[in-house]
Amino acid sequence: MSPPEPIPIRSPAPSLGRVEGERRAMTQYERIDSAISTFVTAIEEGASPRLVHFGRPLPAHTDLQALDAALKRGPRESTPDAPVLPNLFPVAGAGWLAEPALSGYHDNGDGLICWTSSTMRRSSQEIHVALRDERTGLAADLLWRLDPKTGVLASSVRLTNLADSDFHLHSLCSLSLPVPNWASEVLAFSGDWSREMQAHRMPLPPGEWSSTNRTGRTGFAGASFALLESGAGDQAGRVLAIHLAWSGNHRLSTATCSGGARQASAGVHLAPGEVVLRPGGAFLSPTVYACVSQTGLNGVSDAFHPFVRSSILPVRRDGSRKVHFNSWEAAYFSFDESSMRRLADQAAGLGAERFILDDGWFLGRRDDTSSLGDWRVDPSRFPSGLDAFIRHVKSLGMDFGLWVEPEMVSPDSDLYRAHPDWCVHAPGLARRTMRGQLWLDMARSDVRDHVFSQIDALLSEYDIACLKWDCNRFLDPAVSGGQQAAERITRGSYELMDRLRSAHPGVDIESCASGGARIDLEVVKRCMRVWTSDTTDAIERLAIQRWTSIIFPMEALGAHVGPSPNPITGRVIPMEMRARVALFGHMGVEADPERMSETDRKTLAEHIVFYKRHRGLLHSGRHLRWSTRDGAEGRMTISEDQGEALVLACRADVAVHAESAPFAIPGLDRAARYKVSLPTPWPQIAARRLAEPHLWRDGRVFYADSLVETGLALPLSDPQTAWLIHLIRL
Ligand code: DGJ
Repeated sequence: MSPPEPIPIRSPAPSLGRVEGERRAMTQYERIDSAISTFVTAIEEGASPRLVHFGRPLPAHTDLQALDAALKRGPRESTPDAPVLPNLFPVAGAGWLAEPALSGYHDNGDGLICWTSSTMRRSSQEIHVALRDERTGLAADLLWRLDPKTGVLASSVRLTNLADSDFHLHSLCSLSLPVPNWASEVLAFSGDWSREMQAHRMPLPPGEWSSTNRTGRTGFAGASFALLESGAGDQAGRVLAIHLAWSGNHRLSTATCSGGARQASAGVHLAPGEVVLRPGGAFLSPTVYACVSQTGLNGVSDAFHPFVRSSILPVRRDGSRKVHFNSWEAAYFSFDESSMRRLADQAAGLGAERFILDDGWFLGRRDDTSSLGDWRVDPSRFPSGLDAFIRHVKSLGMDFGLWVEPEMVSPDSDLYRAHPDWCVHAPGLARRTMRGQLWLDMARSDVRDHVFSQIDALLSEYDIACLKWDCNRFLDPAVSGGQQAAERITRGSYELMDRLRSAHPGVDIESCASGGARIDLEVVKRCMRVWTSDTTDAIERLAIQRWTSIIFPMEALGAHVGPSPNPITGRVIPMEMRARVALFGHMGVEADPERMSETDRKTLAEHIVFYKRHRGLLHSGRHLRWSTRDGAEGRMTISEDQGEALVLACRADVAVHAESAPFAIPGLDRAARYKVSLPTPWPQIAARRLAEPHLWRDGRVFYADSLVETGLALPLSDPQTAWLIHLIRL
């Protein structure tokens, strides 16, 4: 076979120009700093940039060259004579044999990428590296930004094809970096419907660990993983957390090369043929966000929560998060106008502030087999019109939200009958439904225009404060116009959301995908909250909220009080536990109050009052999670100044010993004393074992140091026990 022809380049690679302070030495170093970390890169002419340091803040006078010199290795047997160093953008043509950060090929088959020039410059909090390969005509622009306050690193790559022929992009990592020396374990996630974010912690394996998502949504396992030092836990130890902000197919991975070099990477997952860069074409990767914590997984949240609050979550006109009432688990598809009005009355009676009308309100929708795409109010459901119903909701002091599933179409719908070619389908293959539905081809602008006009009409006609935006199937096969198109379809959804948001800036969006299958930092830029899981079982939610909240602050996580027995798991759970787990999130209710006992309704209403009183703290403070040595769970939100805290002390299963271990409370101001109270109602069985209950009626004063070190001997050995602890510094 003859060697491939060189690729003609259309125009010279764009020059970055020189900026003030730019140095061109044999090796150039740049650093960006934050309150909790420093990120240092090095670059040699014509090579990929290297990572010198990502971790503890370095003193300003640190000699970066000396730091780098300490990491240099000499030659060894059976390796290239010019050593290939682990770096921040490894490519195969430059001698890297593990997973490359970029791969693909030109029309002539040439896929060997070898940078011929590289430039690095820093401005304020950003480092920009421009890599050019004159031979293949590829330009990669790498960008890292370190948030100065929180230490969250944002990393993305733009790839441009400057050659005269097409470049078939196979893979492009948004972040690829050497695994820190201290890391020995990976924390990864799996998930399924109502079982989101199942955590798995394992030693970093030899060879590769990878998690590839091909569902066309973020997926039930989210898009995060972490590398930990041995022994790191909730409150201590070093952790590198990595999150890919992308609501579609992706790949997260680690690789340990035979020589011992270790690399972690995250990026969009592309199917063969999915992205072809025409001459002059460019591809911008999704962004990866990462941080290094010295204080365990809670330290990761200490970085991510304020970052997400200040830089990701949409700014909302109405500051506090209203208590939602969602009709789904209360009514499913069985409702009419009068039962829905009754439900709204009940919801208002409990103290709800926003009523969300879930699935079933539109033309002909009686179950999940029809009507998606026909976003017109069904007059047989609402004979007086939706407007009248909304007026009723508003007269009760609530605003109104509506469920939609904009990307979907039912084969049994007017939309499908009019435009059978608008769904995602592979020519010649059967159209396989899931939940009786097909995915609309959001890569097509005419399809997006149509969906926009439908939802826009609803938002213009009715007084709607919030859309619950659902997405209930996999994107498979992800084909548009005969080509693989998952990535374009994902971007199409963003475009649709952006357009609707700019046309209706006051409307909140809740991201839902069969529960929590679309929770990532790209969609959350457009959504004020996510539906964390379809399971409202408080025991399941404890774990799901725990792991989702590593990255996402509590106020973004929809958490509802559901029915008991729970419709998904069958568990019977006391109301105070259901309400308390929902308190640590964006609280709502999703159960028929008429089917609750009088006592449960009262308990729920009391917790809603409590939520309203404390949501300012719950949605702005520092959130900590921990487990006791005997399996009880702690959740706490504490104000920035440590002046006030709210703690959930609870247990899912029976403790091994009848006397549970004293419940220690971390994160307090150790030098202070706190007034500690136990908000009522107390868990019934446990309350009987509380020492000196009369002394607890008005709260008691304790030294923080003893609470942190020794803890409170709260009765906490029975299953499904949940105490609230409120602390005010004196
Ligand atoms: C799936 C969602 O996760 C549920 O909350 C509910 O909205 C149903 N879809 C409605 O079909």
